[in-house]
Amino acid sequence: MTAAQMAAAQVSDRLRVAVVGATGVVGTTMLQTLRERSFPSAEIVPFATERSAGRRLAGGLTVRALNDGADLSGFDIALFSAGAGTSRAWARRFVEHGATVVDNSSAFRRDPEVPLVVSEVNPHALAGHRGLIANPNCSTMQLMVAIAPIHRAVGIERLVVSTYQSVSGTGKAALSELDGQTRARLDGADPPAPEVYPEPIGYNVIGAAGNFAPGDDHTDEERKMMFETRKILEDEEIGIAVTCVRVPVRVGHSLAVNLQTREPLAIERAHELLATAPGLIVEHVPTPLRAEGRDEVFVGRVRRDESHPRALSMWVVADNLRKGAATNAVQIAELLAAGVPARA
Ligand SMILES: NC(=O)c1ccc[n+]([C@@H]2O[C@H](COP(=O)([O-])OP(=O)(O)OC[C@H]3O[C@@H](n4cnc5c(N)ncnc54)[C@H](OP(=O)(O)O)[C@@H]3O)[C@@H](O)[C@H]2O)c1
Repeated sequence: MTAAQMAAAQVSDRLRVAVVGATGVVGTTMLQTLRERSFPSAEIVPFATERSAGRRLAGGLTVRALNDGADLSGFDIALFSAGAGTSRAWARRFVEHGATVVDNSSAFRRDPEVPLVVSEVNPHALAGHRGLIANPNCSTMQLMVAIAPIHRAVGIERLVVSTYQSVSGTGKAALSELDGQTRARLDGADPPAPEVYPEPIGYNVIGAAGNFAPGDDHTDEERKMMFETRKILEDEEIGIAVTCVRVPVRVGHSLAVNLQTREPLAIERAHELLATAPGLIVEHVPTPLRAEGRDEVFVGRVRRDESHPRALSMWVVADNLRKGAATNAVQIAELLAAGVPARA
């Protein structure tokens, strides 16, 4: 048990928790994570669309429809993972009814009044929150756990990141699309046309993960990593070049990271910093399959970049549904349950 988990267990066992988007890939993982970590709740109420209302979930929970007839009263914490539109429409209504919302979508991450928190990296940002807390984008989340120890020690001047993002990062419909296309190819049939992605993802790699806003040559996924990295590390000076790529992996995002430090950093010291960082495990060559189902971030291939005296490269892998989404949201909820820090 972490200190926050122990404090949470002591402070209150009467919390009512809403999970909005409970039938999605993140919501399902969230419910599982709450159970696994013995989150001190009196009741967990799953919400989804009208389509899922009445569905029985693991643990004997029954899905409620999130609509104008829904009773939003009496919740202490609401964990949202139902898309940015749903968060914009509903998160503040939960806050008005007294809940603190931890939101997994991109709806509030850019709002300067909303803390964007990675539990191991910047829990202090929770201080004085106003009822809304944002969970970072999944690729950014694992990047932060891996690079924050280096940033704290010697500063980071510039980052170059290429992502290899799994299909579960786009939700359950994308997983069905990958499975359908892969199965058809294995059976020698014509694969179904893509609906979620612009190109087939089965047996393919898509060199632009996310969507392009009009006039922008970067995707929204790439913009998220640039913006969120600077907000979480509280450093607007970091140069960041990002290419986000979608690969036909079901679960687990991988990142090839090259970083240039402000002060010199011996490679041995970099290894030490990473080996002792919270939430991080150093391996030789981590893979998404090995990271699946794990709450930690895995880092490997840590090596000097011989093209620059203050640069190093590394490979960072994590389960996007766990640390990239559900686990971090639950860790934030544990900090809130432990009473650190109170709502302003
Ligand atoms: N997947 C990841 O790795 C990841 C990581 C970080 C953040 N996120 C964010 O988490 C959110 C959910 O992602 P996901 O991958 O879990 O998607 P998903 O598998 O497609 O699930 C979406 C969930 O939202 C529910 N929902 C949709 N519209 C709703 C509405 N109007 N009212 C109530 N519930 C609604 C769905 O309910 P029904 O089943 O009834 O349709 C379902 O439970 C997104 O904002 C995503 O950006 C995802």
